[in-house]
Amino acid sequence: MGRYRYHIFACTNQREPDHRRGSCTARGSEEILKAFREELKQHPVPQPFRINKSGCLDACEDGPVFAVYPDGIYYRVCSREDARRIVTEHLVEGRIVTDLQILPPPELS
Ligand code: FES
Repeated sequence: MGRYRYHIFACTNQREPDHRRGSCTARGSEEILKAFREELKQHPVPQPFRINKSGCLDACEDGPVFAVYPDGIYYRVCSREDARRIVTEHLVEGRIVTDLQILPPPELS
């Protein structure tokens, strides 16, 4: 096993407001990241993990985007409730939260 069981990347990329792809920060990713960290404190993950801000994860239109590695799962996280579900269901119980998952584009599938 690597250093961490899970590494979570929260896109906090910011673009000009009129950019055609938008950005996760414009969709509230900084506030969601704060809520995500609070949920991590309330629901301790039994295995080592790390959460970091990241640049663009190339799923901008579906943001705010959070990616969970090494599973390679991308999530659209729009609320504190979404954050709680990812923490408790994926990180604590090991189940992918399929209804929040952003599926890869066909060229990457
Ligand atoms: S701006 Fe967040 S995925 Fe591109």
